[in-house]
Amino acid sequence: MVNGVLLEARGVSFAYPGGPKVIDNLSLSLSGRQSIGVVGANGAGKSTLLLLLAGALKPNSGEIVFAEAGRAPVNPATTPGRIGLAFQNPDDQLFLPSVSEDVAFGPRNQGLAATEVQERVTTALEETGIGHLARRPPFQLSGGEKRTAALASILSLQPAVLLLDEPTASLDPLARRRAMRLLASLEPLKIITSHDLDMIWDTCQQVVVLKQGRILTTGATQDIFTQPELLGEAGLEPPLRLQGCPRCGVAYSPPFAADLAGEGVAAVSV
Ligand SMILES: Nc1ncnc2c1ncn2[C@@H]1O[C@H](COP(=O)(O)OP(=O)(O)O)[C@@H](O)[C@H]1O
Ligand SMILES: [Mg+2]
Repeated sequence: MVNGVLLEARGVSFAYPGGPKVIDNLSLSLSGRQSIGVVGANGAGKSTLLLLLAGALKPNSGEIVFAEAGRAPVNPATTPGRIGLAFQNPDDQLFLPSVSEDVAFGPRNQGLAATEVQERVTTALEETGIGHLARRPPFQLSGGEKRTAALASILSLQPAVLLLDEPTASLDPLARRRAMRLLASLEPLKIITSHDLDMIWDTCQQVVVLKQGRILTTGATQDIFTQPELLGEAGLEPPLRLQGCPRCGVAYSPPFAADLAGEGVAAVSV
């Protein structure tokens, strides 16, 4: 593990019990801050990779090491909350009678003092802009609100790395925009999976393209997403904005996240 690398997968393979390999000899170093996208077709192994990186699943071979664990294999018990995973379905993350109790759950579980827990809750709710939802039961919230509440429940643990599994799935356009703006405002290194390549284009400087549990390629988002054949090989299509307007034929090309490049920009290598 070279200096500056926060999380590193070394030759990781994984199969669910009785099933085929879904992650196949995968190596990846994650460093810097800002965001790295993980894209791939359904079943490519995106969610499994995040579960492995979070230490929720153990590799069958290879290892995933975390700088904060003294470069030892990642283990949620030794560095609780430092690698935060937002599940694809926020209902899997929220289970208490109110949003504030869900957000307090992690810090309380770590044995923090009541005043510190309260501070963490207030900060996480402020950061995500959902202070007004604090007393609401999570099951009554909209999809976008649930996602934000789930994110707040992870941020209250003050993670060094945020793993976000399809954070804009099933959101309407406004909620999707709001979620993207929120993600961009968050400090930790973010790994974001999606097959919404437009969202990844707007939020991630670097991408990893997964195909059947292997890394097909990795590089700057703008370089990778402008290669339709490469994307096609991964079962993906270029971002909609690059597909040209059927009426005027003009491709829409908005400002790109790589324009933010500079000191400490996210980096990925295999
Ligand atoms: N809990 C599970 N048990 C068995 N197989 C699973 C489980 N979760 C996912 N898989 C399989 O692992 C493969 C990768 O799935 P997943 O990581 O969810 O891909 P993605 O997130 O890219 O759609 C798929 O073939 C899927 O069917
Ligand atoms: Mg998935």
